[in-house]
Amino acid sequence: MRKNVPLFPEQASTLAGEVDALYLTFLGISVFFGLLVAGLVIFFAIRFRRRSPDEIGRPEKAGILLEIIWSVIPLAILLIMFAWGAKVYVEAFRPPGNAVEYFVTAKQWMWKFQHPQGNREINVLHVPLGQPIRLTMTSEDVIHSFFVPAFRVKADVLPGRYTTVWFEASKVGTFHLFCAEYCGAEHSVMGGDIVVMNPADYELWLAGRDSGPSVVASGEELFRVKACNTCHRPDSATLAPILHGIFGEEAEFQDGSTQIVDENYIRESILNPTAKLVKGYKPLMPTYKGQLTEEEVLQLIGYIKSLASDATESQGTVPASGSPALDSDEG
Ligand code: CUA
Repeated sequence: MRKNVPLFPEQASTLAGEVDALYLTFLGISVFFGLLVAGLVIFFAIRFRRRSPDEIGRPEKAGILLEIIWSVIPLAILLIMFAWGAKVYVEAFRPPGNAVEYFVTAKQWMWKFQHPQGNREINVLHVPLGQPIRLTMTSEDVIHSFFVPAFRVKADVLPGRYTTVWFEASKVGTFHLFCAEYCGAEHSVMGGDIVVMNPADYELWLAGRDSGPSVVASGEELFRVKACNTCHRPDSATLAPILHGIFGEEAEFQDGSTQIVDENYIRESILNPTAKLVKGYKPLMPTYKGQLTEEEVLQLIGYIKSLASDATESQGTVPASGSPALDSDEG
């Protein structure tokens, strides 16, 4: 399929056009001023060259109006560039509220994906057209970087931390995924494909295979298997904080500091529970470091998130796979 290398990758996400417009405008401005300055340097060098050996330069005084003009115009241009760049940056890095969350685990040298419905894929990710998709990503070993040129998205994937990218595909097709951070001997072949399908085809694709339990269901199962539910019980907050509704809210700690509960905080609390003790609780929780894979930690996070959005809306198109067990003994 790939014949000759195009000058620009095709535009296959809602963001691509904006990124290109920004890039090409900046490029145009840079070329214009670059040529202007270089041209003037050459022109002045010739026009005002020294014509006789006894000629000496005179101090030149530029008019105040000229000084103001060549200060104010560049300032205005730079401020416009800044504001526009910031707008595109914020858009690129803040997923819309209706984005569906997929999970990405990178390792030397492959990409592992999990759909919210449970399906797992390696080096290929199928996604529906026209649906904002948010990827929560982590690495099992070294730093990788998730890069899909056609979507104009790129973000480092770090061990021990979560990063996100989001995109909304605007074109059906197969788009190449690169690892854009040198990560070892087989870095150059660490790639894959994002396959964008019409929503109906995507549903068929999903239905055509055994998805296994959804991310939330897997997390719920782990929550039981690892006995998290012995202490984190909705009917008792004596031993451990209730987890319902905490996601996205502020947690207050023993030392009076606070933090918004996000993916990175939950991860830390699972693997290093005493790092931040929630106010009013004792350091009773054992560490789960080494007992959970990166994917399992992501599933637990997915489950805890689903508890947050319990009463309101479920996350995206994830089918509710049985209500969380902890709901049954409420009251
Ligand atoms: Cu992974 Cu380069």
